[in-house]
Amino acid sequence: MPTLQEYPAYARLQGSLLGASESLLSWSDGRELLDLYGGHCVNALGAGDLGLGRALERQWQQLSFATNLVDHPGRAPFYEAWQKLMPEGDWQVFASNSGAEANENLLKMALAATGRSRVVCFEGGFHGRTAAAAAVSDGANGFPLTPFDVLRLPWGTTAGIDSSVGAVILEPIQSLGGVVEPPAGFLEELRALCDATGAWLIFDEVQTGPGRLGTPWASQHYGVIPDAFSSAKGCAGGFPLGLSFAQSERAASVPAGLCGSTFGGAPLALAAATHVAQRVAQPEFLDHVSKLGRAFHGLVGTGPVVGVRGVGLLIGLELAPGLSAKEARDALLEQGILTATCWNPQVLRISPPLTLAGSAVGQLAQALCHLPYPSPAGS
Ligand SMILES: Cc1ncc(COP(=O)(O)O)c(C=O)c1O
Repeated sequence: MPTLQEYPAYARLQGSLLGASESLLSWSDGRELLDLYGGHCVNALGAGDLGLGRALERQWQQLSFATNLVDHPGRAPFYEAWQKLMPEGDWQVFASNSGAEANENLLKMALAATGRSRVVCFEGGFHGRTAAAAAVSDGANGFPLTPFDVLRLPWGTTAGIDSSVGAVILEPIQSLGGVVEPPAGFLEELRALCDATGAWLIFDEVQTGPGRLGTPWASQHYGVIPDAFSSAKGCAGGFPLGLSFAQSERAASVPAGLCGSTFGGAPLALAAATHVAQRVAQPEFLDHVSKLGRAFHGLVGTGPVVGVRGVGLLIGLELAPGLSAKEARDALLEQGILTATCWNPQVLRISPPLTLAGSAVGQLAQALCHLPYPSPAGS
């Protein structure tokens, strides 16, 4: 008798998730957990958003799938909705299925357009697990060779970006790396260097957009517009979709037909993404994200929290020495709140649904006050 088991890719939490609604998770031990993780930024509208469900149902009944050999009527509303979120400029988009693919395709486009074979990336960056995305991610790549030359620079530095470089890729805020913002002037310097050398400046906005920073994209928050950027995770509110955006002027030098995907841009994913963009484009939606982000920043000094980093609802709580983020995450889970760790052992990550209720901040504050941690000397 053959057997089949899951490949052990993940170290999972104890228990399992039986259901979810908005920012509440029904856990297998009977508790309702407050979701401050948001399915890793995927549940942008919260779990089970009714409008999103209706959009998917309507689309499924009208046209469940269309191959890319044909056009379908879901494209026009998608462009109309997403256009409203775009940074200044004329843009083209290619749709795939995940964040890694979205980055992979942008790197392919940039190298094809420039005719170069070197990519600059940064220590602490994460861009996915396919060959090109893994090559520019920090840590073990998982492949014996990289598909192009990689120059990995310390975060915030630019030495070596010259006319041999086809693309510079970065997360505007490094999320897994510890919710690390760009140092002042860094993005502007990268923009100037890419203008001078002809390299594509690529922002990986898989976590920072759409809407998570209180602006549609990080580029609008920081005032620096890249040549290209990727989106995935929350962009279709839980439906798999990767989007690779490139300035039309840059995209004009990419050979037609370089990219392709069976499922990319199919009706269901576009219907979901159209609904997400329509919600994010409402001014009160982004105001809510900014306001809630500021409230989380007010947690400095609460329990073990010695600092708060990040923008909008991409947040890192810096913990006092003596309590690691993993210990804090486990203790908060005991108290009914799901948070996340990252590569910095002292930073607890918070990336909730963008629709989270304001009362969640008080709930977290109370729970933080109950965390066991050594009191600062002398207090
Ligand atoms: C910043 C960033 N880029 C890319 C990816 C890869 O996305 P996916 O897992 O959808 O391939 C991730 C996933 O965590 C991410 O956080």
